[in-house]
Amino acid sequence: MIEVRNLVKSYGYIKALDDVSFEVRRGEIVGFLGPNGAGKTTTMRIITGYIYPDSGDVLVRGKSVVQDPIEVKRSIGYLPEDNPLYDDMEVLEYLQFIGEARGLKGSKLKDALDRVVTTVDINHVVYRPIGELSKGYRQRVGLAQALIHDPEILILDEPTTGLDPTQIVEIRSLIKDLGKEKTLIISTHILPEAQATSTRILIINRGKIVASGAPEELTQLARGDHSIHFVVKIGSPEQVAGILDQTPWIEAHTYRIRDNGEVEFVIRPKGGEDIRERLFLLARENDWILLEMWREKATLEDVFLSLITEEVPS
Ligand SMILES: Nc1ncnc2c1ncn2[C@@H]1O[C@H](COP(=O)(O)OP(=O)(O)OP(=O)(O)O)[C@@H](O)[C@H]1O
Ligand SMILES: [Mg+2]
Repeated sequence: MIEVRNLVKSYGYIKALDDVSFEVRRGEIVGFLGPNGAGKTTTMRIITGYIYPDSGDVLVRGKSVVQDPIEVKRSIGYLPEDNPLYDDMEVLEYLQFIGEARGLKGSKLKDALDRVVTTVDINHVVYRPIGELSKGYRQRVGLAQALIHDPEILILDEPTTGLDPTQIVEIRSLIKDLGKEKTLIISTHILPEAQATSTRILIINRGKIVASGAPEELTQLARGDHSIHFVVKIGSPEQVAGILDQTPWIEAHTYRIRDNGEVEFVIRPKGGEDIRERLFLLARENDWILLEMWREKATLEDVFLSLITEEVPS
């Protein structure tokens, strides 16, 4: 549906995008995650045809945004970062103006207005001046504007930034509903936001894509240096510790004795391997009574931090 190919974009000496490529399939809700200045907005502006890349291209349903920006814009709805609206206009008046600018008129325009007003639930504010609206309602009007030509693709740049918690919940649920029918890219620098709304997360940092995957997959990426907890019922923890010391696939371990006498070891595998099976066999071989074993789950925060830390030049 969207093929982003080798985008490079500099502003003066700042390289905002450094060879960014990724694909978005129909029906996906992609969370575009990255810290401030990572290149999210720049990427979105290029996809939506508002600025040109220095090199590279974006194909939207097979059409090049560089060669055919007008055609591409037809299939995309865009909510920019700053959600620019005309404060003096009334909501309906504004949406009508945008609809006309996108080539709608007569009964088509009327139907489109009815549709978006219902979709984003702004019926009761259509005659209010935009300047009087709360931030949550401004965001709804921004979404309505993005939806008016009924595009297949929606690109939302930090749609919940600056909203209060109630408004965030409302806008997220609206986005979720939109995701049932449309292909979405939503940028955010907040991890839980990406986890809450997306089917896939793309992480961008310093103008490069550093990871892509389902939220669970990304969690597994960081599994490497994550520890196994291993609880045994045992007379002598030192004896177990001695054996763990001599086990080549274990990098390090610690233990603590629980109140009930059970011993909980935390074991770090060498080379990030999954050692649960081997630990089980080791316990059986030594007649340790294994009570519990679990792998510490990396949170997306961990993944994100480890990924962006790697990128920091030393
Ligand atoms: N118009 C511009 N002129 C000069 N530099 C720019 C311009 N727009 C963006 N940049 C720079 O390009 C880099 C990427 O910016 P971009 O706005 O794409 O990041 P972002 O991921 O959207 O960040 P944020 O989370 O703060 O919105 C940053 O270093 C930024 O300072
Ligand atoms: Mg931005």
